Amino acid sequence: MNLYDRIPNNVNLSEDKRLQRALEKWLPNYLDWWHAMGPDGFQDKDVWLRTAIDVGSEGWAHFDYVKMPDYRWGIFLEPAQPDAKVGFGDNFGAPAYQEVPGEFRNSLRRIIVTQGDTEPASVEQQRQLGHTCPSLYDLRNLFQVNVEEGRHLWAMVYLLQAYFGRDGRDEADALLEKRSGNPDKPRILEAFNQPCDDWLNFYSFTMFTDRDGKYQLSALAESGFEPLARTCKFMLTEEAHHMFVGDTGLSRVVRRTAQLMKQNPNEEVREAGGIPLEIIQKYINFWFSYSLDLFGGEISSNSADFFAAGLKGRFKEQEQYTDHIAAEGSFVMQVVEDGKLAPREVPLRNALNQVLRTEYVKDCEKGLARWNKALADERVVARLYLPSIRFHRHVGEYAGHNFDLEGNLITRDEFEGRKTEWLPTIADREYVRSLMHPVTEPGKIANWIAPPAAGIKGKPFEFEYVRL
Ligand SMILES: [Fe+2]
Ligand SMILES: [Fe+2]
Repeated sequence: MNLYDRIPNNVNLSEDKRLQRALEKWLPNYLDWWHAMGPDGFQDKDVWLRTAIDVGSEGWAHFDYVKMPDYRWGIFLEPAQPDAKVGFGDNFGAPAYQEVPGEFRNSLRRIIVTQGDTEPASVEQQRQLGHTCPSLYDLRNLFQVNVEEGRHLWAMVYLLQAYFGRDGRDEADALLEKRSGNPDKPRILEAFNQPCDDWLNFYSFTMFTDRDGKYQLSALAESGFEPLARTCKFMLTEEAHHMFVGDTGLSRVVRRTAQLMKQNPNEEVREAGGIPLEIIQKYINFWFSYSLDLFGGEISSNSADFFAAGLKGRFKEQEQYTDHIAAEGSFVMQVVEDGKLAPREVPLRNALNQVLRTEYVKDCEKGLARWNKALADERVVARLYLPSIRFHRHVGEYAGHNFDLEGNLITRDEFEGRKTEWLPTIADREYVRSLMHPVTEPGKIANWIAPPAAGIKGKPFEFEYVRL
């Protein structure tokens, strides 16, 4: 097999022997990891998957049946812009960095390793879900997300191996050695150590946690380190599908719940084998709050340093802002002071995590509006909502304090006394798991979820997306 067939790429890999050697050495270790930690039980099945074969919005992907271990995990960057400039920060307007600037080397490596670590982590979290798929359509979408997270790991490993020499290669190896949820060698970020062992978790994860990925990648797509910017821009095209899976997945669960409520005189969903709205709300509360943590502290000197250095910008930095220096200005946020919430004015650059988080919350609200429309369509009065950004936080200003869903400061005892109303209990999780029986006949769907409005890439829902 020639090099391009082993590692499809648009980075002239055949001309860079050193990088080629590093990637070819890493490839078998990656495959070992994939076999050990990738989707359990389906490695020899034909799955109708899209594979990235080029960049650009038209014709970048090819759809066909492929066995997952034969998936071509390639390296694709958006084309370089001639005369690219650093778009923000203290070096605004200087030529974009084509190599790693020495003074930012540690920061950049940390950014890339942190992003890279999330990609295999999510595959590990979702490893067992195939056994309980609600339909072949959903099974295929799970595997599509999994192989693309694998490709995102490749994207970050490419940057590490191409630009960070020896320590980059060591970091690339280490990314395959950690394990989601393993106390001895956990993944870096906590959302990626949480179990994702039922499909309500999976849709919540792809809705809320993959969406954090969209905002991190968007901020890095602005980077003055051009190889990182170009890599992240292309990853975003794939990421859109992951969020689609989560958003529409939850929407379909909500719609089905509403239908079952209407079929039962007391709106009792459990008897009818559906997932009650209260449980869906608790899963939203859980995954939304863990995903908010991924943006980092509300007040952060790292965010200021990364922006000043031109490494990590704001969401749509070029489109949305005219002042790309952001050295002046401030951001007012609520913080806990003397046991009370009080406003604090923070220099803008130190508040950039919170600025990015605010964009993310607006985007999540749109999902909630769509699900509530499904409830309204089915003539159900109840509505779903996002909890306050202060609720159930483990990182930043609100960590170590207790808040209710509206964001009111409460005591630890109050929180402990009410948390079973707000977060999934063991019994809730067991109930959801009790509904998870595999449905693998083409065109059939589990009772607790509505079918999708359309299939994938013009194929009908009844299409045999996975040949079992
Ligand atoms: Fe990803
Ligand atoms: Fe993703």
